Order: sequence, then structure tokens, then C-alpha cells
Amino acid sequence: MIGASISRWTMSYFAMALAWLLVALALMVAGLGYPAAHLASPDTLVLVHVVCIGWLSVAMCGALFQFVPVLVAKPLFSEKWALPALGLLTAGLVSLLAGFLGLGGRLPAWLWLLPVGAVLLIAGFGLIVVDLGLTAWLRPTGPARFVLAGLASLCATVAFGAIFAFAHAGWAGSVGDALLATGVPLHAIAGLGGWLTLTAMGVSYRLLSMFMLSPDVDDRKSDMTLAAGALAIAIAVVGGVLAIWLFSGLNVVLPIVAVFGLATAALYGRDVIGIFSGRRRRQLELNTRMAVLSFVSLAGAALLGAVLILTGAFAAHVGAFVFLAVFGWLSGLVLAKLYKIVAFLTWLETYGPVMGRAPTPRVQDLVSEARASKWFVMYYVAVWFGTLMLLAGQPSAFRAAAAIMIVAIAGIAREVIRTRRLADVESPLRLPDGACAPHLLCARN
Ligand code: HEM
Repeated sequence: MIGASISRWTMSYFAMALAWLLVALALMVAGLGYPAAHLASPDTLVLVHVVCIGWLSVAMCGALFQFVPVLVAKPLFSEKWALPALGLLTAGLVSLLAGFLGLGGRLPAWLWLLPVGAVLLIAGFGLIVVDLGLTAWLRPTGPARFVLAGLASLCATVAFGAIFAFAHAGWAGSVGDALLATGVPLHAIAGLGGWLTLTAMGVSYRLLSMFMLSPDVDDRKSDMTLAAGALAIAIAVVGGVLAIWLFSGLNVVLPIVAVFGLATAALYGRDVIGIFSGRRRRQLELNTRMAVLSFVSLAGAALLGAVLILTGAFAAHVGAFVFLAVFGWLSGLVLAKLYKIVAFLTWLETYGPVMGRAPTPRVQDLVSEARASKWFVMYYVAVWFGTLMLLAGQPSAFRAAAAIMIVAIAGIAREVIRTRRLADVESPLRLPDGACAPHLLCARN
């Protein structure tokens, strides 16, 4: 990332994302949504979208604004769109959530809030997809292809979501109603599997190689992984819509998608093991050690999914499966990488301009891994405990797990704020002549 310009709004995206994550966990502790309510209940929809849009999508977009230009070695198509996009996403999410609360009778039933939220989200995600897509398109090789596949899946996710939102308001006609009645799994697969998972995989290839000094994964290998993943999503979206259209339901499509999904996870595991075995940095940094725990969670989720399908218990325990995938794999990886990216960008922003002219600290001097590691370990243990409690049908113990996750996330957030404030850098090196302390929520450029 050295030499790349620093994305001005990445920190604002990260801060907003962490705030939504804390909101989601607080709702879980309060017992709102699954497991206290049904998976398809409005309360669960509130929880799902706070996590999927507010936390994961916002954090991913913030990382991509910095990362895509690095991947393709070209500047971002438009830096100016990032902040309006964040505003649109936030307003759209709030409106969508208010619509869901109305659907569940917790607010007046102003169901028009759902399409209004959808339109705002389309505008926000639209700006981001065009901005990142036009940038990644300039050199669509290796990880950039995963990002393009992820962005295409995001378009599909948002299109399904918007149709559902309009259908709830009674504005989508019979086609919209039919899609809403059977198509929700397609929206979830495109969002969690396509947008979030394929993008996270692409980004992780590059970040793992960079931080472990490993050779990049052979393009032929990563292309195979991407082909399996993209095929799974294409079958879900195109095959799924066709299946609903022809009234045969999703019974044939979903097992095929599951097979391709498992194959993608296995191929990705092979690629990641290759990166680890080729590394030149023997001593692993905290972000990489914690990323390993997220890979373990992905393997655990794949195994759990396979066992549940084979024993015919998938429908009964889909909540536990999704919880492990969302909080163990996706959120765990995002948190581990966010911790490192904040340190790296803060270092680049503060000390890049004076490098060579004054003594500067190392990136690792901006963090205290010994202090941070306990919060990460606490987070993963709580996620795994929470998954087991969902499987065991113990909602109170699950809420206790969510409470522990809040403590852990607050701890990680505090570490990240300390990094931004240069609080762990020793005095003489902290602000050499000519260096400026960074702002908390945006870069100075
Ligand atoms: C424009 C953006 C979006 C809109 C308008 C939207 C809207 C909706 C609606 C209305 C439903 C409920 C369908 C029903 O009544 O059963 C739903 C379900 C769902 N959405 Fe979204 N969504 C959006 C984006 C996303 C994204 C980006 C993700 C994931 C990354 C996501 C994940 C899910 C999941 C997992 C469900 C199923 C939840 C359950 O059944 O408990 N959505 N969405």
C-alpha cells in the first residue's frame, strides 16, 4: 500500500460500521429477533440488516475504497462520491429499519418507508458499485476479479431486496409477491455468499500475502476458486429466479448451490494454506493469527452446514449456521483486518510525509498486540459459544454470549481509537518535526 494515496473516508466508514455492530449486539442482548422470534419475523429482519448493511457492507466498502486502487495501481474513479454514499446508506438503512419495525407493529405501519429505504440504499450502493467497479475494471486480474464478482452480487442482492421492499408496500405486483414468497434465500445467498464472502476472499489473498511476505496465489488457482464461487451465485440468482418463475420452487437449485459453495470454501482453504506455507515472515502478527480463527470458523460453518444438510436438520438450525458464518468468518476477518488497516493507514498518513527526514516509529509501534489479543480471543470464544447455544436451543445463554461479544468489540474499538490517537507511540518518535497528528474519523488529505 506504500505509494498509494490514502482514502479520505475509510476511517469514517469503519467508525460507522463499528457503531452499527454495537447496535446489533445490544439488540441481541435485549432479546430482539432470532432466537426469541422467528427467523423471518420483522424483528429478525431489523437485526439482519443492521449486521449485513450497517456493519459488514459499510466496513467492506470502507476497506475497498482504500484497497481497490492499490490492487489495480490506479487512483479511485471518484473520491468525492464516498461521503455522499455513506450518507445515503445510513439514511436508507434507518428508513428500512423503521419500515421493518412498522411491519412488526413496533412503530406505526408506514410501509412506504421500506421502498423509500430501498431507493436510498440503491442510490448509496449504486455510487459505490460504479466508483469501485470503474476502478477495478481498469486491471481486472487476481483479487480485483473477486471484487468485481462481489460487486455484481451486491447488485443482485440490492435488486432482490428492493423488490421485497416494494412488495411489502404492495407496489410490486404479482411478480414481486411471488419473489417475496419464495425468493428470500436467493437474496441472502447473493448478499452473504456473493457480495460479502467473495469480496472478503479476494481482499484476504492480497492482504495475507502482503502482511506475511508470501508470493501471491497463482492466478490459475484463485481463478478456479472464483469460478466455483461465481457459479454458485449465478446458479442461485439466475437458476433461482427461473425456478420460481416455472413454479418448481427452489428444491433443486439450493442443493446445487450448496455443493458449489462447499467446493468454493475447500478451494479457498487450499489457497490460504498455500499462502501460509510460502510465507517469509515466520512471526505472525496479531491480525494474521486472528484471521486464522476466522478461517477456522469458515471451515466450521462449512462442516456444520454439510452435517445439517445430510441429517435433514438444516432448516431447523439455519440460524446457528448463519450466525457462525456471519460472526465467526466474515466479522472475525473484517475485525482482524480492520485492526491492521487502521494502524497501517495511520502510520502512512502521519509518518509517510516525513520518512527519510526524521526518525519514525514502525507500524507495529502504533499498536499493543498483547493488550488487543485478549479482546479478539474473547470475541471468537463468545461467537463459538453463541453458536453452540443456538444449536442447543438455549436463548438466555446465547444472550450472555452476545453480551461478552459487546465487551470484546468495545475493547477492540478502544484499541483502534488508541492507534488513531498515536497513544501507544513513545514520546520522541510520536510527532517528529513536520508530522501532523491524524484526525480520528477521516484522513487529512
Ligand atoms: C437495498 C438493500 C436491501 C433491501 C431493500 C433489503 C430488503 C429485505 C427485505 C424486505 C427482506 C425481507 C423479506 C421477507 O419479508 O421475508 C430481506 C431479507 C434478508 N436480507 Fe435484505 N435487503 C437489502 C440488502 C441486504 C444485504 C446487503 C444483505 C446481506 C449482505 C441482506 C441480507 C438479507 C437476509 C440474510 C435476509 C433474510 C432474513 C431472514 O429471513 O431472517 N439484505 N431483505
